[in-house]
Amino acid sequence: MFHSFVSCCFCFCHLTGVFGDTDTVKSVSVLEGDSVTLHSDAELQTDDVIQWRFGSENTLIATINVGTGSFSTINDRLTLDKTTGSLTITNTTITDSGLYQIRARIIYRFSVTVYARLPVPVISNNSSQNPSSSSSSSSSSSPQQNCSLVCSVVNVGHVTLSWYKGNSLLSSISVSDLSISLSLPLEVECLDDFYSCVVAYSFSNQTTHLNNTQLCQPCSESVHCCGVTEAVIRMVISALVGVATVAVLVYDIRPRKEEQQRRSNPHTN
Ligand SMILES: *[C@@H]1O[C@H](CO)[C@@H](O)[C@H](O)[C@H]1NC(C)=O
Ligand SMILES: *[C@@H]1O[C@H](CO)[C@@H](O)[C@H](O)[C@H]1NC(C)=O
Ligand SMILES: *[C@@H]1O[C@H](CO)[C@@H](O)[C@H](O)[C@H]1NC(C)=O
Ligand SMILES: *[C@@H]1O[C@H](CO)[C@@H](O)[C@H](O)[C@H]1NC(C)=O
Ligand SMILES: *[C@@H]1O[C@H](CO)[C@@H](O)[C@H](O)[C@H]1NC(C)=O
Ligand SMILES: *[C@@H]1O[C@H](CO)[C@@H](O)[C@H](O)[C@H]1NC(C)=O
Repeated sequence: MFHSFVSCCFCFCHLTGVFGDTDTVKSVSVLEGDSVTLHSDAELQTDDVIQWRFGSENTLIATINVGTGSFSTINDRLTLDKTTGSLTITNTTITDSGLYQIRARIIYRFSVTVYARLPVPVISNNSSQNPSSSSSSSSSSSPQQNCSLVCSVVNVGHVTLSWYKGNSLLSSISVSDLSISLSLPLEVECLDDFYSCVVAYSFSNQTTHLNNTQLCQPCSESVHCCGVTEAVIRMVISALVGVATVAVLVYDIRPRKEEQQRRSNPHTN
């Protein structure tokens, strides 16, 4: 009995190996609620009858008769392009995931995966230290309290949760299965750059920026070394912006004047 099970499994695996040939199955990922188009590269002949089939049962879901131009689909979320045979699924649901086949002269296969929409990551306090409740504390000699944060998302699967400083990755955590709650801590002394927490599928993501909040304050308030440098940089930037603005205005006004002259000239001549 065990042997027959094993051989049956072998047989099954062999079959799926043949049908699921990676060079012929195109993987398509889409977010729940979005539309997806399965582009057939099939050269449609005028006498072709094309069928779209879905799932392990090979359910017929759409037909095009290229000769007569008639077509039909099993529901109005499916639309067909009569000239290319491409199938569009609108307002996708998780249950639209599966294997799609277009059967023309050649069979093309698409493995469609509909992913749940990503939640927006939530950044919250993960402070374990004693809070310095005296907000009017002016003594700068005491060590500044760090920002102890945690970024979290709930009910996600097949995602990576990451902390970024500017464009560089600081840390990340990945899950393949469905996870009730996924969280990633971050400890920084103060906001010295743009920090963001990103939850991502390979093809889509959601970002939350860590702004100047009660959780974390910018470094510049307590750091005095860079005050002068920053002022100089700001002055230089303002000057550059000013020059650029003047340049733009001059170039913008000049053609207009010429145009006005050109317009008024025929009248005066
Ligand atoms: C998409 O599907 C959902 C649930 O199936 C439905 O509530 C919603 O109205 C649909 N939206 C559109 C634009 O068809
Ligand atoms: C809070 O931070 C500590 C380290 O400071 C970490 O071990 C812990 O996992 C964090 N909490 C959460 C919910 O991530
Ligand atoms: C503050 O965070 C830095 C790393 O960002 C760490 O090296 C330092 O020990 C932390 N200080 C405190 C008081 O937790
Ligand atoms: C998030 O998605 C955008 C485009 O959708 C992409 O440009 C960016 O690199 C992605 N970021 C991450 C961290 O995956
Ligand atoms: C944080 O800043 C970004 C851009 O700097 C802004 O889009 C976002 O709404 C801000 N978030 C909060 C919670 O203030
Ligand atoms: C962060 O959490 C700690 C411990 O629960 C608390 O004492 C502190 O006031 C919180 N800080 C902020 C800014 O909410």
